[in-house]
Amino acid sequence: MCGIVGYIGTQEAKDILLSGLEKLEYRGYDSAGVAMISEGELHAIKAKGKLYNLRDKLRGVEDSARVGIGHTRWATHGKPEEYNAHPHTDKQATVAVVQNGIVENYRELREELKAKGHEFVSDTDTEVIPHLISEYLSLNSNSLLEAVRQTVNRLEGAFAVAIICTQFPDELIVVRQQAPLVIGFGQGEFFCASDTPALVSHTHIILPLDNGEIARLTPLGVEVYDFRGERRVKYPQTLNWHPSSAEKQGFRHFMLKEIYEQPTVLRTQLDAYFDPEWYLQTQNPTVGERSRITGSNPPSAPASSPGLVQLNLPQSLYENLEQIQIVACGTSWHAALVGKHLLEQWAGVPTFIQYASEFRYSPPPLTANTLTIGVTQSGETADTLAALEMEQERRKSHHSPAYQPRMLGITNRPESSLGRLIPYIINTHANLEVGVAATKTFSAQVMAFYALALDLADRRKTLKAEAIESIIKKLRELPPLIERLIEEQDDYIGELAHQFNETSDFIFLGRGINFPIALEGALKLKEISYIHAEGYPAGEMKHGPIALLDAKVPVVAIAVPGLLYEKVLSNAQEAKARDARLIGVTPKDSLEAQDIFNEILAIPTVDESLSPLVSVIPLQLLAYHIAALRGLDVDQPRNLAKSVTVE
Ligand code: F6R
Repeated sequence: MCGIVGYIGTQEAKDILLSGLEKLEYRGYDSAGVAMISEGELHAIKAKGKLYNLRDKLRGVEDSARVGIGHTRWATHGKPEEYNAHPHTDKQATVAVVQNGIVENYRELREELKAKGHEFVSDTDTEVIPHLISEYLSLNSNSLLEAVRQTVNRLEGAFAVAIICTQFPDELIVVRQQAPLVIGFGQGEFFCASDTPALVSHTHIILPLDNGEIARLTPLGVEVYDFRGERRVKYPQTLNWHPSSAEKQGFRHFMLKEIYEQPTVLRTQLDAYFDPEWYLQTQNPTVGERSRITGSNPPSAPASSPGLVQLNLPQSLYENLEQIQIVACGTSWHAALVGKHLLEQWAGVPTFIQYASEFRYSPPPLTANTLTIGVTQSGETADTLAALEMEQERRKSHHSPAYQPRMLGITNRPESSLGRLIPYIINTHANLEVGVAATKTFSAQVMAFYALALDLADRRKTLKAEAIESIIKKLRELPPLIERLIEEQDDYIGELAHQFNETSDFIFLGRGINFPIALEGALKLKEISYIHAEGYPAGEMKHGPIALLDAKVPVVAIAVPGLLYEKVLSNAQEAKARDARLIGVTPKDSLEAQDIFNEILAIPTVDESLSPLVSVIPLQLLAYHIAALRGLDVDQPRNLAKSVTVE
């Protein structure tokens, strides 16, 4: 979960490394460090705490180095102290290494190296790497690449590594094994990083390494090898990102900016997933009228809606589909819960969801004709990737065609490891999200599930074409409603947040398609405000959590007009009878709701089936304002990282 960067070229390395680390600080922020080579000497500078401490230390340090590596740490082995901060070096300080990942067999390697006279100064697993490299260099001193190759063949675990060495001042070596590593191509200069945001202000031409690859970067070019030393031919790709996605653009926090970006992301998705031309025509049917719009399809015409849902997924994914299984973690798992509801209710496909970390160690028995979906905003979550890889492998080795893998990924990062593992991807178009708490990527994943469920419902004829068209039209009405909702609620919730200065527990209730939103509201609040919060299906409250209620525990209930509206209101009444302070996420025009709730976070009235996209917004704003008011680090909450690349 740490972030690593590297640079080799014609510019001074220091500032490039620092700005790269800034973009990666979301991956870990308990210490940071850089190592550079200038005039044949290695300079390693580290600082405990956030990156500004390292920046302070480096201020005024003249360094003409044109090669260097940097690291921002999320502690796995060893406390977050300066002596454990990366880069780590060998005893003579000739080799410097930064690592993201875990070297599982570091204890035995450490003992082996100690027996040869090596001394260690940190508690980390990483420190064995520079020592091993220097050991192999002493045996084979004319190739850093070869020494690194021999070293990584000794390492067990998941890791990405960058290495520089004073004997080879024109080389930067990088390695990827189950942890992300991307190379950036400039002119006469090359970059590497754990994640593309650290590269986009320098280049849009990138080359993500695959597992088991080592690359040698020199000012003249990049060579890629496998762990056996065989050369690999690889081609870089071009990103179409704008560097401003990694800037706050006037917002106080990335999280708030990303909450505000949701309508734009949803519009992009709607245009990408559903034929925009068709929608324009429905708005103005006299222009370029099509028979399907006027309902004058000949009776023999198929009821399907070719072109309406344009996910461009092959029919082979859907053929004879009997079951869907989804693996995900955290907020992505919540999006998958909304997806399950839609896939079952609209497309009629039994859908099962598992936490990826559970699935990988207790996979369900194999079922035939099953579509496996992985949902991840980073595209790099170790558990999700491992679960999908395992599923892909066990299905490939099955003799029956019905059990062969059908895999689909849902992510905003199609260039990520997920994109390279899974043949079919739904791009959620949320682009880069910097705030550690997922907001726009969540809504975008939910929207991707609407498109998938409609596509399936269309192909399986579980919904009539008219019903699908009507849902798409209603989806298209959401972005302006959400825009207004954010504008109206932002200040109001900002004020309301003052009332929760002393609050230490919250309960979130929802039912049906809004139960996952209750879970998401609770997760958002706890991860950035550190307030204990629980999400429950409203009907479950009386089976236990009701015991927690008293006047000090606010209860947030999502009450959306529809099938479960009255039920949620009566569950809310049960809480009120226990003196709980009731906050309703509900349309404000209902007299009944006005009577029950102490506060209303007003949402527009939309179909219950589409309501998660609106009901989540006030909960994101509530979490944001409570945390911001407490002066907490909203974008980088303690102990969390944006990409969880370790198990
Ligand atoms: C919460 C949050 C996390 C992630 C989880 C999975 O705001 O962001 O719970 O959802 O770590 O991450 P991805 O989606 O990258 O697999």
